[in-house]
Amino acid sequence: MKTKRGHMRGKVVRLGVIGVGGMGCGHCTFITQVKQARLTAVCDTDPATAEKLGKQFNVPYYFDHRQLIKAGLCDAVTIATPHPSHASIAIDCMNAGLHVISEKPLSERVSMAEKMVKAAKRNRVAFAVMFQRRFEPVIAKALAIVKSGQIGKIYRTCMISPEFRSQAYYDSGTWRATWTGEGGGVMMNQSPHIIDIFVQLCGMPSEVYGRTETRMHRIEVEDLAEALAPGNTSFWPIFSLSPVNLFASRMALELVPWALAIFERLSPDFTTYSFAPTRAALDAAPFAFTDFPALFAATAVFGAGAALRST
Ligand SMILES: NC(=O)c1ccc[n+]([C@@H]2O[C@H](COP(=O)([O-])OP(=O)(O)OC[C@H]3O[C@@H](n4cnc5c(N)ncnc54)[C@H](O)[C@@H]3O)[C@@H](O)[C@H]2O)c1
Repeated sequence: MKTKRGHMRGKVVRLGVIGVGGMGCGHCTFITQVKQARLTAVCDTDPATAEKLGKQFNVPYYFDHRQLIKAGLCDAVTIATPHPSHASIAIDCMNAGLHVISEKPLSERVSMAEKMVKAAKRNRVAFAVMFQRRFEPVIAKALAIVKSGQIGKIYRTCMISPEFRSQAYYDSGTWRATWTGEGGGVMMNQSPHIIDIFVQLCGMPSEVYGRTETRMHRIEVEDLAEALAPGNTSFWPIFSLSPVNLFASRMALELVPWALAIFERLSPDFTTYSFAPTRAALDAAPFAFTDFPALFAATAVFGAGAALRST
């Protein structure tokens, strides 16, 4: 891509990470594993966090993204701050000619997300949102199957995404689960990945009827959302990840083809167990399962668990 700073293709991209808490720290680690990229700076408004990560990765650290821009050490940045700051940081970086990857969601407001897209176009910089789950092998496989058309006509879809978080998780940051700090609850933070995958697989719905509720947690935003979304055909497509979900106050059980996930809600750290039959049991099954696309989807569901343990 040609940009204000010239062609990037073939170059090692000098990347900065803005917001180096939980996810940003992960980005720093992953960047060090990519041959075509080099971590060159970090930034965090919390001085102790910025210093810790700067020292850990042996790069200059800043407490304000404008200082990082001014230092001229980066071709591109990854933004992993709380949602309401994504847009202003991204636009400042783009106006300075930096390419931007923003964590999901782009913004908690559509109008701000649109401003980000406009700024990227105006400055001719690359701009992406962090939807890394699209590249997970099971998701990529499911997408390839759907895109190839071999799946046939989709006539109905169903998406149930537990995405359970404990109260301890919500209490872990003052910005979490607040309207001003996060812009929403499960719809804003936990579900963007699965909604993105759903739309990639099933198409953009033409209408959505929905409701949200705060049912299980002491938080001000929603921890539950339900929607009915007619497809862009007159049919209701089927891509059922979980034939049976049972959500109860102490546990959630999720039956997927050939496996059972058990989520224990009340354990302090929210543990997840899985039960999968042995290879011998699967071999003895009455019909073949190996090419069953839902099995790929099931693996994806399990992959999202925090502490997955086979029993
Ligand atoms: N892609 C994924 O799978 C994934 C997973 C977890 C979180 N996230 C996203 O990553 C982002 C951060 O989430 P988190 O869980 O890492 O939060 P966190 O609270 O652990 O980290 C956020 C960091 O940003 C810093 N910060 C706040 N405002 C800042 C600013 N203006 N400039 C620079 N630094 C600032 C904070 O001090 C903190 O260290 C959110 O957008 C979240 O939705 C994405």
